[in-house]
Amino acid sequence: MSEILLQIDGKEVKAQEGMTLLEAARSAGISIPTLCHHEKLEPFGGCRLCIVELESRGSTRLVVSCVYPVEKNLVVRTRSEKIDRIRRMILELLLAHAPDSFVLEELAREYGADKNRFEKESSFCIHCGLCVRYCAEVKKKHAVGFVDRGIQKEISFIPEIAARECWNCKECFPLCPTEALQAAFVLTQGLTNP
Ligand code: SF4
Ligand code: FES
Repeated sequence: MSEILLQIDGKEVKAQEGMTLLEAARSAGISIPTLCHHEKLEPFGGCRLCIVELESRGSTRLVVSCVYPVEKNLVVRTRSEKIDRIRRMILELLLAHAPDSFVLEELAREYGADKNRFEKESSFCIHCGLCVRYCAEVKKKHAVGFVDRGIQKEISFIPEIAARECWNCKECFPLCPTEALQAAFVLTQGLTNP
């Protein structure tokens, strides 16, 4: 695999071909916030919180760093007024769904996001898909999935599979940035252990 040199936040970074910008940044100790990324899972690019700016010939464009592959001589910026504004907006929208999420609150503090900016529509799940994808891709069990579509989308454990697989696993629990997963599990517990 060939080595690729690029610049992130003014720092020369050596990356391997095939790495994403997020992986390259993290390998150089540069942090980028993520909500739907997990190193054991296929790149997903759902939450958009990890956006960064690419600079080229005086202009900039935004890309999603957890799916964008490294390229030779890229000039990348992980923080700017524009990036922070977009991250703030994403967090404010998500906080309307999951106002008590510690993960979101901490990020909101960092980016100055106002958790009360948008009307609350508490659904708790922010659709990061980490639980669903982890169960499918890593555990190969498919015990949890999404039901419904669009903003009605919710996660749900499949009771027959959950009753067999989940009690001794629960590896998805710490991945959830909100309380939604645990709540859905408690509900399933009620259904499978009447
Ligand atoms: S339940 Fe949690 S981990 Fe699963 S999709 Fe929703 S927010 Fe993400
Ligand atoms: S972490 Fe990149 S889009 Fe969610």
